[in-house]
Order: sequence, then structure tokens, then C-alpha cells
Amino acid sequence: MIKVRVPATSANMGPGFDTLGIAFNLYNIFEFSEIENGVEFEGFKEEFSNKDNIVYKSMMICFNKCNYIPRGLKIKLVEENIPMSRGLGSSSTCIVAGLLGANYIMGNILSLEDLFKIGVEIEGHPDNIAPAFFGGMVVSVIEEKDVIYNKIDVKEGINFVAIIPDFELSTSLARKVLPTEVAFKDAVYNISRASLMISAFSNGRYELLKYACRDSLHEKYRSPLIKNYNLVYNKCISSGALSCFLSGAGPTIMAIIKNDHEEIVGNIKKFLKDEHINWNVKELSIDNVGAKSYKGGTNEREFFNCRQKSFA
Ligand code: HSE
Repeated sequence: MIKVRVPATSANMGPGFDTLGIAFNLYNIFEFSEIENGVEFEGFKEEFSNKDNIVYKSMMICFNKCNYIPRGLKIKLVEENIPMSRGLGSSSTCIVAGLLGANYIMGNILSLEDLFKIGVEIEGHPDNIAPAFFGGMVVSVIEEKDVIYNKIDVKEGINFVAIIPDFELSTSLARKVLPTEVAFKDAVYNISRASLMISAFSNGRYELLKYACRDSLHEKYRSPLIKNYNLVYNKCISSGALSCFLSGAGPTIMAIIKNDHEEIVGNIKKFLKDEHINWNVKELSIDNVGAKSYKGGTNEREFFNCRQKSFA
């Protein structure tokens, strides 16, 4: 039996559509064991306690790639702290945990890099999967059949506030509203800002985020799907946030704030209450570790004992 803890993640981070992502100290925890026969789900809602469950499907993809046939499986959702369909990477936690659980059951025959590649194939884009596996802020690029990634050494001095709506937004709907082509000037707008943003995170020049953390590729198409988006976004900025971005495909708005932030958070909470906007405010900091295992169900965390080299 193995327990797996996977962090929440925020993709895009403004200008880095399908490229930038960051992991936070908010986690879903799963438990996996190979049993004599059948498939058992525990801790999941009724609607997810079947073979359409994304954790189960991810495990089976991994088993099939390695020609491994499990006798039976028990999949338990031990703790669910990340709200679903809010742009905080909850489905990536299912995929990453499922792959790590499957690999453990097979005797850890695949490396983390192999699992990462399979995870990206399943999700279709790497920006949540990469920080969920590796922690921190990660840049990922799909290059033909490979996925290249690089973790950024983020300088201290900032924190994040997730302002989480009381409604869901499906990623597939939020991708459908995007254009198939964009103007050259919009492409340049994002390339320049994504680059500035990475440099600001690398050397701690967080005053640059007000220029860097802006987007012209997806937020303007998606924000009309989110009631009160502009109101909340503008309030975060006027309260003193360094910048804001739509977390993943939304609907969560992520504010980046300096470490001394209590007044800003208080202001945002008061505003939501006064306006009767029933959104949840969660203060987050960066998780630099990524997915972890708890072998034998103890609380002692260990790194996965995966192969060091990739499966050819
Ligand atoms: N980059 C993806 C998108 C993240 O914005 O559609 C969704 O999880």
C-alpha cells in the first residue's frame, strides 16, 4: 500500500498559456493497493466510484503501456482539499497520483520523467502536470513527442491568494471559447510578458509583475464566463496585490502579494462580503517539493523510488 500526496497547481500564470505553472501548499491525498481481485473505490463521491474515474483510468493507461495486468485495485481518496473544476489542478492531482500509484504497484519500473510524459499525454498540456510532479514554478514545452521542462528558482518575498468562485468552470468549455488564431501583436504581447515574468521571479524584482503578469491570449475570452470577474480582479489590484491572473482555465482568480499581506487579504474578504459575492479566499504559498509518497501509511514522507533513467 502506498499513500500519495499531490499539490494544487495554477497553470498559465497570466502570459504563459499552456507553458507556466506553479505548485501550492494545498494537497489531495490518495492511497493505492493491489488487491486479490475487482476494483474498489473508497472516499470518492458516488458519481466517481466507477471505471470512468480519472485516477483509475490514468493507472490503467500506465499498466497498459507496461503490459502489466493488476490482480485487483483499491483506490482511496484520503483527503480532498482542492476544489474541483476551479482552475487549481484537481484533475492533475488525480492523474499524477494514479500514475505514481500504478508505478509503485509495478515495482517502480518507470522513472518520474516517463510518468511525467504519460501524464502530459493524458492531460493534453503540461502546465499543471509539471508542477504537480516536480513542485515549484515550472516552464514546460512540448517538442514533438517530448516534453521539456525547467524549474525556476523562485526568489522569496511573495505569496498567493486564491479567490475561488462558488461555481465550477469546465476546462473543455473554457478552451472552446478560445480563438483558433491570434494576431501577431497579441503573440508578441505574451512572449514579452512571459519572459519578463520569468526574469522577475528569478531575481525577485516583483515590482515588475504589474507589467509582466498580463495576458492577451486567453483571459479576455474566458472572463465573460465568470460572473463578477472584473469586480474581483480590480478589487485585488486596488487593495495592493502586485498582480492577478486567471488560475488555469478559471474560474479562480489568483492574486500575487508581498509577504506582509494581511491587510490586502482582509480588504478582499470584506469586499466580497459587502458585495454578497460568496467566493472562498485561500492564502497559499509555493510548494517546492511536488508529489510525495507516504510508504506503509506512516506520516514519514519519502521520495518515490523510481528508476533514475527513462524507459526507452
Ligand atoms: N493551460 C490550460 C488552459 C490549463 O488554460 O486551458 C487548464 O488546466
